[in-house]
Amino acid sequence: MKKIFGIYGTGGFGREVMPLLEKQIKNKNVNLNNIFFIDDYRDGELINNHKIVSFESFINISADERHVSIAIANSKVREKLTNKCLEKNIQMLNITASNVTTLTEIKIDHGSILCPFVTITSNIIIGKSFHANIYSYVAHDCIIGDYVTFAPSVKCNGNVTIEDYVYIGTGAVIKQGKLNNPIVIGKGAVISAGAFVTRNVPAGITVFGNPAIKLTKENLRKRNG
Ligand SMILES: CC(C)(COP(=O)(O)OP(=O)(O)OC[C@H]1O[C@@H](n2cnc3c(N)ncnc32)[C@H](O)[C@@H]1OP(=O)(O)O)[C@@H](O)C(=O)NCCC(=O)NCCS
Repeated sequence: MKKIFGIYGTGGFGREVMPLLEKQIKNKNVNLNNIFFIDDYRDGELINNHKIVSFESFINISADERHVSIAIANSKVREKLTNKCLEKNIQMLNITASNVTTLTEIKIDHGSILCPFVTITSNIIIGKSFHANIYSYVAHDCIIGDYVTFAPSVKCNGNVTIEDYVYIGTGAVIKQGKLNNPIVIGKGAVISAGAFVTRNVPAGITVFGNPAIKLTKENLRKRNG
């Protein structure tokens, strides 16, 4: 049975995720020549010892099974590419670095990337295509939607609900919510790098600072003088 693997995305994150995939499938008899980067604009190039192929080329390589991880932070792009892969019966990989800590009662849907030093503790439900970059954590009783992205060192404390398409920047901290009254980060919200979120964030807005407030010119002026 011939299996081929692809990391969709040749940016910095894609190049960070490739060695995690290599390690994950190391003892599974996969020839390194069957692990590709996928990038529709760089077909035929070589990076970090792997050939780049376009999506069309990837699905035309003769194989019994195709597995792909989408290493692209933009959640809408990730969703579009995931659907494109699923239409072609490609399996969406879950990539988990070898030193990730997961404790108990955790459900994670397909397409996740858990980078080195990530910790996911207990009683946590996570949707499709979750990205947790290096040193991020998710604590107890959190619910995370689909296509959510954590940059490095995001600290998501207990009893927090994060809706679909949320992006959380480097080093942001989400304060713990309460049992039956979680802190809710609304659909598509953006949490700036370094923000400290102490209350619910409405859908679609960007917040910044400590405590986090809506990112507007006026609020920036107030905070920065
Ligand atoms: C919040 C964020 C999304 C805004 O991006 P943007 O819409 O492109 O906005 P800009 O960078 O033009 O910044 C707009 C204003 O917000 C300020 N600002 C941007 N990010 C900020 C932050 N994290 N905290 C405080 N202020 C911030 C900028 O100084 C700028 O202020 P000014 O208009 O007075 O100069 C972005 O700055 C951010 O934090 N992204 C996360 C980055 C990250 O973690 N990357 C990880 C890569 S792995």
